[in-house]
Amino acid sequence: MTKTLEIRDLWVNVEDTPILKGVNLTLPRGEVHALMGPNGAGKSTLGKVIAGDPGYEVVRGQILLDGEDIAGLEPDERARKGLFLAFQYPVEVPGVTIANFLRLALQARYGKEVPLTEFYGKLQRAIETLEWDEAYVTRYLNEGFSGGEKKRNEILQLMVLEPAYAILDETDSGLDIDALKVVAKGVNAMRGPDFGALVITHYQRLLNYIVPDVVHVMMDGRIVKTGGRELALELEERGYDWLKEEVGA
Ligand SMILES: Nc1ncnc2c1ncn2[C@@H]1O[C@H](COP(=O)(O)OP(=O)(O)OP(=O)(O)O)[C@@H](O)[C@H]1O
Ligand SMILES: [Mg+2]
Repeated sequence: MTKTLEIRDLWVNVEDTPILKGVNLTLPRGEVHALMGPNGAGKSTLGKVIAGDPGYEVVRGQILLDGEDIAGLEPDERARKGLFLAFQYPVEVPGVTIANFLRLALQARYGKEVPLTEFYGKLQRAIETLEWDEAYVTRYLNEGFSGGEKKRNEILQLMVLEPAYAILDETDSGLDIDALKVVAKGVNAMRGPDFGALVITHYQRLLNYIVPDVVHVMMDGRIVKTGGRELALELEERGYDWLKEEVGA
């Protein structure tokens, strides 16, 4: 049976205000899904709740990772089970280089020492795929990084950690076309039977580079429509109003 990340009837509050109102979504390993929807629909909230952000209250529902409910686990426990948490380290960490940080993150993911040669092998492959300068990884984590560089760093992490599932929120990241291509390169390089990704985006353009298997649309805290790639094209052409009418949102 295919392994999945499954969100079942998820209700989430922020300070007693319902934000997610019964989200159902299944992401099988081996597939890339896009999550779209108007501003304020709850897309980033869903990503943060899956990652285990403590600022959100899960009122009802389940988050099943390969069949196991992870809703009660700490973010680092979720990472160990193979979930990629792009939201976990947004801060600057002075004095820690990217390479050091990645090695620590890799050890946290597997819960054991990772031999240096193995680590550098993974790092090397990722750097080559993303066509970077090796000098980049000796810089200090996020210190003085531009938005695009932080994004590159995140994708480098994704490739080195090789998670089973990744949730990437590209909605508010203000990426230029080169950064979008970096994201796409990383995700496409990871594609395969053991990897599933949920890419949150407003940009049909990103989906020209990362061609999704499935597109979900969220409105007012629910998934209101699921379709193929053509759904993203239709949204780009027609906006969201027709869909609001169709689903009565
Ligand atoms: N920590 C919070 N405190 C208060 N309100 C919040 C919080 N997080 C989310 N919300 C509210 O929940 C709703 C959904 O926000 P969310 O960021 O998930 O939307 P989104 O779909 O990601 O939108 P966008 O496309 O603009 O990124 C918004 O009305 C937002 O103001
Ligand atoms: Mg958002």
